[in-house]
Amino acid sequence: MDRIRILGGKPLIGTILIGGAKNAALPLLAASLLTSKTLRLTNLPNLADITTMVHLLAELGVSVSRPRNESNGRHVARTISLTAAEPKEKTAPYNLVRRMRASVLVLGPLLARWGEARVSLPGGCAIGTRPVDLHLDALRSLGAEIELEEGYIRAIARRGLKGNKVHFPSVSVGATENALMAAVLADGETIISNAAREPEVVDLAHCLVAMGAKISGVGTDTLSVSGVSQLDGAEHRVIPDRIETGTYAVAAAITGGDVLLEGSHLGLIGAVSDTLSKAGVAVTKEHAGIRVRRQAEHTLGTDVMTDPYPGFPTDMQAQLMALLSVSRGASMVTESIFENRFMHVPELCRMGADINVHGSSAIIRGVPELSGAPLMATDLRASVSLILAGLAAKGETIVNRVYHLDRGYERVEDKLAACGADIERVTEDQE
Ligand code: UD1
Repeated sequence: MDRIRILGGKPLIGTILIGGAKNAALPLLAASLLTSKTLRLTNLPNLADITTMVHLLAELGVSVSRPRNESNGRHVARTISLTAAEPKEKTAPYNLVRRMRASVLVLGPLLARWGEARVSLPGGCAIGTRPVDLHLDALRSLGAEIELEEGYIRAIARRGLKGNKVHFPSVSVGATENALMAAVLADGETIISNAAREPEVVDLAHCLVAMGAKISGVGTDTLSVSGVSQLDGAEHRVIPDRIETGTYAVAAAITGGDVLLEGSHLGLIGAVSDTLSKAGVAVTKEHAGIRVRRQAEHTLGTDVMTDPYPGFPTDMQAQLMALLSVSRGASMVTESIFENRFMHVPELCRMGADINVHGSSAIIRGVPELSGAPLMATDLRASVSLILAGLAAKGETIVNRVYHLDRGYERVEDKLAACGADIERVTEDQE
């Protein structure tokens, strides 16, 4: 299994190109199931989770075409054309769904288009119990009959879905996306209230509108959908990844560097840039992207609570904690979205961080310096937080089990090394 070796202490200086957003691309790929015409997506990131979703769609009978790279015959991952003419399968099998929770996003589109779907109950990151009840309740409101049998969700809408009121008791990104994709082909009007407002939900809505869907209220917590009988093809560019943007912003801050995050924009990272500013990091708009640099010798502790968008994203909590662990003073980080999302804490403490967890909050007392250590990555964002800590630490850090990282970060070690970090990937056969 690959590991990442870092020799800390080098300031990051240079430019990092921000890729397309994984969490926008996944529902956009699933949206291809809604039409018999071709959906062409550009600016796709080259990540394991994207490959898993493409495999799943191919399994369901979607024909997938990707331009090949002339020089080496390998796929160029940035552009993909998907055509879901006829289903081969209406079952999303356990062996693919268990690898990635977002596979459940095929449920709404399959059901809306074909009136039935069978999707394995998902697995995914080990961050607490992550149920799918909100997805299922939303689809039931649209007239689906849903049963759980032998580890599978079985959903049927024999006479098609019917528009209705869908109210979410709590905000869910994936359930909003599933409900939206189902509602666009339902008969009549659907009002989705307490909908997630994440930029990835907005990106999906824009793509669906380009395919001919009738949606209003995009970007608010109330989406009104007037169902249409069929959708067309479209071409759509995936938005930049705000979590990748925020992660490299922290990398610049924690190493005392100066980095241009090319292709991203401030509008995507409001809460993260506000928090970094409070910590003493300059985050400014540039023509080509966002520039991030630490303003003083030390960053400052600050309190933060994760929240649905436009709040501080839970997917940036672990990375911020790495920065706060070497910031001056005390900070409190409260995780309000997921339980069990402090798995990076014991590893950061092994590097010398002073962090105490009380329920869903962590108190971080900044230390002058972390020291390198062998570490174990647990989930996607925890893995990258350990890499950030390693970039700032004294001595050598080895992050083991980095396959989590490859689910969400493209060529992380190359991007960091190009800005002066001393970092390399060690594959098993090199050892
Ligand atoms: C998405 C993101 C993930 C991010 C999360 C929160 C993708 C592919 N993943 O995940 O990176 O961390 O949003 O911003 O876009 N919940 C239920 N029942 C449900 C669904 C969710 O109780 O049916 C709970 C979850 O356990 C969690 C909260 O709702 O506590 C929010 O989860 P949700 O927004 O659904 O996250 P995902 O869409 O899975």
